[in-house]
Amino acid sequence: MTAQLIDGNALSRQLRAQVAQRAAALKARDVTPGLAVILVGDNPASQVYVRNKVKACEDSGLHSVLEKYDASLSEAELLARVQALNADPRIHGILVQLPLPAHIDAQKVIEAISPAKDVDGFHIASAGALMTGMPGFKPCTPYGCMKMLESIGYPLRGKHAVVIGRSNIVGKPMALMLLAQNATVTICHSATQNLKAHTLQADVIVAAVGKRKVLTADMVKPGAVVIDVGMNRDEAGKLCGDVDFAGVCEVAGWITPVPGGVGPMTITMLLVNTLEAAERASV
Ligand code: GUN
Repeated sequence: MTAQLIDGNALSRQLRAQVAQRAAALKARDVTPGLAVILVGDNPASQVYVRNKVKACEDSGLHSVLEKYDASLSEAELLARVQALNADPRIHGILVQLPLPAHIDAQKVIEAISPAKDVDGFHIASAGALMTGMPGFKPCTPYGCMKMLESIGYPLRGKHAVVIGRSNIVGKPMALMLLAQNATVTICHSATQNLKAHTLQADVIVAAVGKRKVLTADMVKPGAVVIDVGMNRDEAGKLCGDVDFAGVCEVAGWITPVPGGVGPMTITMLLVNTLEAAERASV
């Protein structure tokens, strides 16, 4: 079997075109959806992510403001900036890029963001809403993974989904979103014994560990859907995911590539969340 690709670039183009249309409709009512992105310090990966987010806003007709601060910025100063953005009517979404320098309590900063502007979906109010099925912003990466499953018309009801990874940003919200679609969900993590015994049972596997070749062909049931959230570098410095792509392609029914899979979808869902924040604020 050779797996079919779930193309995150193509799906992103479609969804971003819809965002641009809805943004234009808001603009006709004098509301331009606005995203503020805060970057503290000079983490090279964060700089690339932040640049891509700001560029994606521009391309879809969203207004964005990038605030860059030296790593020496104090927690109090950062909290004051978040408060100011909470009160700024031109800003509908606030994103504080993680990781933050060690002297800043990231959770405290996240909780300072108004839940109405929490387009990353990291606030405990957003997490609680997701857990209980109430309206709220969903974290962009697992939300993008769900859109990819939706794009292939995959019926999750009664299917067995295995999520590898239990982070607050991806693994846990991913499991909740799959559960909300009536999948039977298993969460595997660093203390899981015999990972392969779990993944071999899975109709859907989401790999979100941050380590190469966590999932190999011998761990995948023929025909399974494999979603690769990983963003790693191989020996040659080439971007690769958590999945041994060449091997798993021979067994899986569907697979997301890296690059060009989940990565662009994460940014797309940030645009969707920012647009929705603006729509909610302007009714
Ligand atoms: N760092 C890595 N991924 C993310 C993300 O999705 N949002 C934020 N704010 N920081 C990140």
